[in-house]
Amino acid sequence: MQSALFSIPNKLKILQEKLLALRANEKLFLQNGDVGLGSAPSNIALLKYWGKSLTEYQTPDNPSLSFTLENFRSTTKVTVLGRFFPEGHKPEFIPPHEFYLTDSSISNNTVRPLSDVSDKLEKFLNAILSPFATDIGIKIESHNNFPTACGLASSASGMAALCMAIANLLNLEKHFSKMELQYWLMQWARIGSGSAIRSVCLEKNAKFVSWEFVQHKIHSHDSLQAHTHTDSIIKNIAYHSNWKKLKHCVFVLNTEKKITSSSDGHRVAHTSPLHQIRVNQVTTQFKDLKDAIKNFDFDVVAMLTEHDALLMHAVMQTSTPPAIYLTHEVSHVISEFIKFRRKEKIKAFWTLDAGPNIHFLYLSQHRKKMLKFHHSLKLPIKIYE
Ligand code: PMV
Repeated sequence: MQSALFSIPNKLKILQEKLLALRANEKLFLQNGDVGLGSAPSNIALLKYWGKSLTEYQTPDNPSLSFTLENFRSTTKVTVLGRFFPEGHKPEFIPPHEFYLTDSSISNNTVRPLSDVSDKLEKFLNAILSPFATDIGIKIESHNNFPTACGLASSASGMAALCMAIANLLNLEKHFSKMELQYWLMQWARIGSGSAIRSVCLEKNAKFVSWEFVQHKIHSHDSLQAHTHTDSIIKNIAYHSNWKKLKHCVFVLNTEKKITSSSDGHRVAHTSPLHQIRVNQVTTQFKDLKDAIKNFDFDVVAMLTEHDALLMHAVMQTSTPPAIYLTHEVSHVISEFIKFRRKEKIKAFWTLDAGPNIHFLYLSQHRKKMLKFHHSLKLPIKIYE
């Protein structure tokens, strides 16, 4: 198996081995033209994932919690290129992986490739398909129902939809239990892009999803002593029914390519003197946020979300090298919003990811006021909702 490319958790290794055994027994095989379909929503973090372990692959430094963006979805079709060969027979030619990305800003009849298969995606595909990757190529056709350039973390919905499509291609609903399938999806999504883990919840109506740590006790065969192993998984957070009225929109200030990619930013987060302070704080606030979601304490959710966005950006700005997304323009819009919110007494709050695009969450009865605020700025800012 090519899992050496990624240090994958033991439980995931066991599931990959299960796939390998199914292939060896000819209970699972792929042929030229086989298709898998998947679809997943994007998400916006209220408590952010920022900073990851330098030793354990894609393990976050802190728990995070997001709101699911049902209106921003990626839908993906994967098609097998090439042919399955029995164990021990090497094919002469393995077709390369292909990737085509379209979005709502492109009309249906002008479908054109928007992206190449990056080294990162190539490695990811070879690892997730490790029981088959020596034989086949994969064609990925992905569509975002929102403009990819609108500053949303399309990697979250895109990576989640890709994992769903591969699960469908491998018919994992049949081969795995529901728990195994959920585990397989979340670990591969996390490896693909951290925030994507919060977009693969199989439970219906997963509005608020956390990504948190769990401890397992592991007994080794040769010893009576158990040792503790930490894993990170998602949970569907219980919420008060009033949150059904929570709506989202994003103001796009700049669609130019990111200066610092989020993976580079995660890697250097620990160089900020504020990072450990934030990690400790988020860990405490994580419980407060869950309680506030359960009890519909709107002002607490708003306060915790805005505070963590500011703290995460303080970490970004004080890392080496720094990443500055909280630009003058972004700060201006946020301070105008705070004045507007106070004057109009609307239930709304903001947050900002690793890009100069401001996300707003508000109760549905205040939509008109949010549009009025956008209009009042008189700036060339696009709004997506
Ligand atoms: O999934 P990544 O590696 O692009 O990291 C996402 C980081 C933030 O969007 C800034 C925060 C989050 O939790 O989504």
